[in-house]
Parts: sequence; C-alpha cells; structure tokens
Amino acid sequence: MVKIAPSLLSANFAYLASEIKLLEEAGADMLHLDIMDGCFVPNISFGVGTIKSIRPLTELLFDTHLMISSPEDKLEWFAKAGSDIITIHYEACTDLLSALKRIHNLGCRAGVSINPETSAEVLSPFLDYLDMILVMTVKPGFGGQKFMEDQLPKISHIKNMIGDRNIEIEVDGGINFDTASGVISAGADILVAGTAVFQNKEYKKNITNLKKHKGE
Ligand code: DX5
Ligand code: ZN
Repeated sequence: MVKIAPSLLSANFAYLASEIKLLEEAGADMLHLDIMDGCFVPNISFGVGTIKSIRPLTELLFDTHLMISSPEDKLEWFAKAGSDIITIHYEACTDLLSALKRIHNLGCRAGVSINPETSAEVLSPFLDYLDMILVMTVKPGFGGQKFMEDQLPKISHIKNMIGDRNIEIEVDGGINFDTASGVISAGADILVAGTAVFQNKEYKKNITNLKKHKGE
C-alpha cells in the first residue's frame, strides 16, 4: 500500500504539537518537513530549531526535504536535529555524490529530489547511493499548487531505471484525491500531501482516502 507523508507546511504552526499528534493518530506514515531558505526557492519555512523541538513529540519518521542552496554544508545540522531521511535537490548541489555519502555517514537515509524541468537521466550515476528519489510535481516553494500531469511519464521512467534496487519513489506537489491514482500507477511508493491531508481538518478521513487509491 502507498505511504502518506503529510507536509507540515500546511499545519497551523501555533498548534504544532497537537497537529503532529493528530497526524500520527490519523495514520501518517512519516512527517514531511519542507525546509525553504528564500534562496533556492522564493519562500522561507522553518529550520533546524523547529525540527529539534518537535523531535521528542513523535515516533514518526522525519522526512526532511531540503529546498536550500548548498545543502552540503548543513547536512549535519539536519541529521543532529533528528531527521531520518534527508533529501537534497540535484539542482542545488555541486558535488551530489559526496553529499549523499555524507548523509549516510551521519546515519540517515539519503534522497535526491528533481525539479519538474530536470530530466530523470541526471539520476543515473547516483542510483547506487540513493534510498529515495523525490519527484517534484509542482515548482518547489509553495503548497497548494496545481499538479503537473506532464511529470507522470518521468515517474514511470524512474521506476524502470531503479530496477530491483531498494529505492523508494516519493512524489511531492498537488497530490489530492483526483491526482493520487495516476501517481500510484506511475510507480510512486510515497505521496507527500499538504493541502489534501489538512483540508477541513479531517486528517484521518483524508489520509485514509489517499491510501485507498490503487492506481489506474
Ligand atoms: C512544495 C513542497 C510540498 C508542498 C506540498 O515546495 O515541497 O511538500 O508543501 O503541498 P501540497 O500538497 O499542498 O501541494
Ligand atoms: Zn516537499
């Protein structure tokens, strides 16, 4: 069954502790932490201090998505703050391979994310160093954007490239009850969802509905 990673970006930050509890009780498989620096993307979200503060509140895996420039320099901060998975952007790195090795040395699982305009082919040299590939289906920076249908063939292509390697495909951006099936059919293992999980504050109903999709 597909896993659901609610994006904390859509939470009410005045009530972060209770929001996280509710997501855990609602059946979230992990917590997706969108870190934005106002440089790699035109938005600023939250940082290491927030991750540290929420770490003791839950057993959920912390799936940290770094939308920051030069993530290589900051990997240790995010590992020490309590991340389980650290995903960096292909477009933001100068030496991706050493960054991935560093993430593993810090005891975390390593992911790479690619923007909509980036081809899947760039991932080929790194497949043996990856635990996760995060395919962006919106331009990174903001929640609530429209899903980009034209990214579906890329997901299928990545699925083929992975072959029998133990790499999960995560898809992020515009996932909702209409778009989930296509993404699962294309090969997604994990769906990130902000708007769709938090809508009407019906976390359990929304997560259950997203998980129900079997693909077309
Ligand atoms: C976008 C973020 C996403 C986003 C998802 O830059 O990486 O995780 O918050 O939000 P929705 O599900 O609303 O598209
Ligand atoms: Zn994300």
